[in-house]
Amino acid sequence: MTQILEIRDLKALAKRRVPKLFFDYADSGAWTEGTYRANEEDFAKIKLRQRVLVDMSNRSLETTMIGQKVSMPVALAPTGLTGMQHADGEMLAAQAAEVFGVPFTLSTMSICSIEDVASVTTKPFWFQLYVMREREFVLNLIDRAKAAKCSALVLTLDLQILGQRHKDLRNGLSAPPRMTPKHLWQMATRPGWCMKMLGTNRRTFRNIVGHAKSVTDLSSLGAWTTEQFDPQLSWKDVEWIKERWGGPLILKGILDPEDAKMAAKTGADAIIVSNHGGRQLDGAPSSISMLPRIVDAVGHQIEVHLDGGIRSGQDVLKAIALGAQGTFIGRPFLYGLGAMGKEGVTLALDIIRKEMDITMALCGKRSITDVSRDILTE
Ligand code: FNR
Repeated sequence: MTQILEIRDLKALAKRRVPKLFFDYADSGAWTEGTYRANEEDFAKIKLRQRVLVDMSNRSLETTMIGQKVSMPVALAPTGLTGMQHADGEMLAAQAAEVFGVPFTLSTMSICSIEDVASVTTKPFWFQLYVMREREFVLNLIDRAKAAKCSALVLTLDLQILGQRHKDLRNGLSAPPRMTPKHLWQMATRPGWCMKMLGTNRRTFRNIVGHAKSVTDLSSLGAWTTEQFDPQLSWKDVEWIKERWGGPLILKGILDPEDAKMAAKTGADAIIVSNHGGRQLDGAPSSISMLPRIVDAVGHQIEVHLDGGIRSGQDVLKAIALGAQGTFIGRPFLYGLGAMGKEGVTLALDIIRKEMDITMALCGKRSITDVSRDILTE
């Protein structure tokens, strides 16, 4: 087996181990995937400033995200269907994040439920909320996250309607996954994945099934999901959600300084500069290219985080240098999970940590909290 040294190696391994329709689900963007590509490519355009003969000993990557201590400024982003990359995916990823000392964020659209994840972790995790039209379901979800002692609510704002991803349409991906002969063949050629999946189907979309009014079983889930994203979601909704939740609130999916100013006014604790990993508005700019303007607009009022395109510790460092307090990774941990389960998530985090540490040292900094725009150059 090739040595695994970078996130790309985990991606290649995941591609060999995860059935095509689920691997493609992770590795896809909306329409031409231009924004998906730009998220990664724009990081490469940012140049780091090499320094020499400064004390590079005793380095630390420790910092805080929304006031909570983290071993490095990298959280696992909420990703739907994570349990299809690997059996019990959300539970394993949460455990890996806990050991590593970074936040794990559970998606509303996860395979394992809030309670499943709470049952295998000892520290609080974060919960991501989609606001569905069925408000009773949303209120109940908030209460379940509170009962599970989640320590932050990540409210996603950029999915009032669902972006279109060609790969998913071509693969015939649906929720719940429909099994056609093509899909069965894709699974049969990934026996390791299948073996692990056997016996875990009782944990499918458990945040929703049995909790939403009309979703009593998996067969009713698909129709419910498509008509439930709320195109009328507004800033007013953020207010009642904030009130009902009553804890730390992070607004995810901000890509414009004007929206960032609106978000800051809500009194939320943080925003995530994000275009949903290029999965929603194709043609939108990359997250990293918008970060400086958003930090300049609201950085003095609200904590600013970023996700989209981070594939290395260098990318994290660049985001921190441009004013992010923390970052989120989606696909890098999904590739780790698909490649090697919990160990793969740990490896993804470890690769990023090492890259960040070495890069920070070579830029002449000893603490992540001292990193600023002065580590960048033309
Ligand atoms: C996502 N994302 C996402 N976001 C969210 O708020 N709720 C969700 O359920 C999902 N689901 C989801 C599934 C998959 C497969 C991916 C790749 C992404 C978006 C995610 O939280 C994050 O914004 C991006 O993944 C960040 O980009 P990178 O790190 O994947 O490049």
